[in-house]
Amino acid sequence: MNSGFIRRQMRRIMAVSTCVFVVLIFYIQWTNSQVAVDVHDDLDDALGEVKVNLKQSRHGPQYMMALEAPHNDLSETRKNEVLDGHEADKHDLEEAKLKINELQTKLMELEKRLPKQFPVVDFRPFDRKRILVTGGAGFVGSHLVDRLMLAGHEVTVADNFFTGRKRNIEHWLGHENFELIHHDIVRPLYIEVDQIYHLASPASPPHYMFNPVKTIKTNTLGTINVLGLAKRVGARVLIASTSEVYGDPEEHPQSETYWGHVNPIGPRACYDEGKRVAETLSYAYMGQENVSVRVARIFNTYGPRMHMNDGRVVSNFILQALKNETITVYGPGTQTRSFQYVSDLVDGLISLMESNMTKPVNLGNPIERTIKDFAVIIKNLVGGSSEIKLVAAVEDDPQRRRPDISRAKRYLNWEPKVPLEVGLKKTVEYFKNELKRSRHSERNVFQPDNSVPNS
Ligand SMILES: NC(=O)c1ccc[n+]([C@@H]2O[C@H](COP(=O)([O-])OP(=O)(O)OC[C@H]3O[C@@H](n4cnc5c(N)ncnc54)[C@H](O)[C@@H]3O)[C@@H](O)[C@H]2O)c1
Repeated sequence: MNSGFIRRQMRRIMAVSTCVFVVLIFYIQWTNSQVAVDVHDDLDDALGEVKVNLKQSRHGPQYMMALEAPHNDLSETRKNEVLDGHEADKHDLEEAKLKINELQTKLMELEKRLPKQFPVVDFRPFDRKRILVTGGAGFVGSHLVDRLMLAGHEVTVADNFFTGRKRNIEHWLGHENFELIHHDIVRPLYIEVDQIYHLASPASPPHYMFNPVKTIKTNTLGTINVLGLAKRVGARVLIASTSEVYGDPEEHPQSETYWGHVNPIGPRACYDEGKRVAETLSYAYMGQENVSVRVARIFNTYGPRMHMNDGRVVSNFILQALKNETITVYGPGTQTRSFQYVSDLVDGLISLMESNMTKPVNLGNPIERTIKDFAVIIKNLVGGSSEIKLVAAVEDDPQRRRPDISRAKRYLNWEPKVPLEVGLKKTVEYFKNELKRSRHSERNVFQPDNSVPNS
């Protein structure tokens, strides 16, 4: 290739590039003018809308005059008029806000004066009982209180709010049949009652291990105080014992005749041995002082109002699944549990209290599942993307738990009725709502739940 040919090619390329560049410049200018026309049209539309609104507002005429005058005619006076009008509107707005606030406050005061709406309770002119529920602000206690209140009894709750919450029973505060006493059961209580459900005691391992000495005091001194009160006023007492009295059982399923396999110096001993002493005390008061006692050995229970952070399987798995976190199974996951829904338990507690059965009675669901199965059920129920992971086992974690409920069936005509999936759905719903709440003022609304048996 000679240099003349290259020069000619270069000149051609330059000429073509210049043409393309000039065409591009023309095109950009043309599109800009189109956009300007569109924006102008939009502004005109918006102005039209503002004018319509202004005509209907208090300072409309002032603005209209200013807006409709040619822009270059907008004199200083007019500008000032517009600004004054604007200020006046701002002022009006502030005044309106103040008035709204005043009205809101008045409305709230008036609402307070309205009589509180309570769930409808039965009226019992002849067989109304005065019932004390210790630990009545807790998970199980609050459901028991609901049932006793709906049945028309006079209910007193004594609770130190260690793990319980006023929120669980707030829907009864102010009802003439209901009384709440902030009281630690380690100290004596002097009231007149016909029946006592003694539930006061932390129930989940993190809670009862938090202060083991206090857990022992609550279950021993507290139980002595309750039994002493029952002796003084002639009340019948139901003691909430636990399947933990069987420890890590060597007999399966556990019947009431089994004496248990408990490590007396293990991390759970404060609770397990505390409850064993509570049972011993109950039968000592029955034998020696003629106190009428009932002993319920409660197995794992779940349902709405259980603690979000109680560290037990149900709440752990549901929370982890709802937050799409890893579902952690302690140990091999082959250890078994049986879970009963809280309304079944409440039904069993009331049946036992009303029965003549003075021996201990297991109250639990005999359908046994492995913890791993349980994790899968919850994961499927909640949905989400959590994975299930096995982690190191916990010390003294019982390997098998399943109640033999023949005694409850035979003497109380009781057995659990709520299927696991139904109860779990309700519990998941409760946890979901709790996680959604951001303000304390979003109260618990109590509606008797007729969708599950025994409620
Ligand atoms: N939930 C279960 O799965 C389960 C299983 C077996 C036994 N139980 C027994 O049932 C009862 C209730 O259990 P829960 O699950 O509702 O537990 P929870 O922790 O929700 O309720 C216990 C209540 O007792 C109160 N309390 C604790 N110590 C107290 C004290 N010294 N004085 C006054 N009040 C005190 C707490 O504030 C709370 O309101 C407990 O006695 C527990 O041992 C429960």
